[in-house]
Amino acid sequence: MSAAPPSTAGGDAPVLKLLNVESAYGPIKAIRGVSLKVRRGEIATVLGSNGAGKTTILKTISGIIDPRKGSIEFKGQNITARDPAFIVQQGLSHVPEGREVFPLLSVHDNLLMGAYTRKDRDGVARDMEAVYGYFPILKERTAQDAGLLSGGQQQMLSISRAIMAAPDLILLDEPSLGLSPKLTKEIFEIVVRINRERGTTILLVEQNANMALNAADYGYVLENGRIVMEDTCARLREKEDIKEFYLGMKETGQRGERRWKKKKNWR
Ligand SMILES: Nc1ncnc2c1ncn2[C@@H]1O[C@H](COP(=O)(O)OP(=O)(O)O)[C@@H](O)[C@H]1O
Ligand SMILES: [Mg+2]
Repeated sequence: MSAAPPSTAGGDAPVLKLLNVESAYGPIKAIRGVSLKVRRGEIATVLGSNGAGKTTILKTISGIIDPRKGSIEFKGQNITARDPAFIVQQGLSHVPEGREVFPLLSVHDNLLMGAYTRKDRDGVARDMEAVYGYFPILKERTAQDAGLLSGGQQQMLSISRAIMAAPDLILLDEPSLGLSPKLTKEIFEIVVRINRERGTTILLVEQNANMALNAADYGYVLENGRIVMEDTCARLREKEDIKEFYLGMKETGQRGERRWKKKKNWR
């Protein structure tokens, strides 16, 4: 089932490695033995419908939830169940679902909060200019309270705040959520540019398979807390199952139903 690493990835040492990770909310097992790798320089994606366990995976990586089982390695270091602040300091930034910005702080101050652990003031100033280059609207709104921004602008700010920490890896939780297709496309284009221009490795979780498969290099399909398929995104885009169930290209009528039974054979 698994495939060779994508040619677009820079080197093959994984920057992030999950092995058999299991996380639960009380009696509810949300992820059940998830193993995945993110290679340095790539955009990896986890696709899954609502409730599949995408957010739980990211929260477990960044230390917000402690896993019941399994291990998480980041840059060769075991970070399983470590403190979220420690994990951020190692170079891992999390852009949470629903883009949590500090609503009563200005755009500028939100960005500075992202850089609070950094001592290199010149670097911080340079990165501030860089994010204003990616998202010029944030520069226009620099003095405005973040709570007054639109949903799309808050998503831009949330991504920018992660960049301000100068991370090696960004975890990105459903950037498309609640945004128009046009805005989603814009944000995905910038995410790809950030990856290509800054070399930042990205793990993106998405329900929007279409956008994610076009932006990412390597993908995992998550169903009910389990990885059921993985491959390069180029190959995933060509798979009939993926086209039908995640890209909305399902055939209609009886033949479609038959194909559904016949083709959905990955478990
Ligand atoms: N705080 C919580 N308490 C109890 N169950 C939760 C909580 N958060 C998520 N779940 C459950 O865990 C499963 C995975 O959720 P989640 O990781 O948020 O999925 P996704 O991000 O893919 O939509 C779902 O069944 C969800 O109902
Ligand atoms: Mg989620």
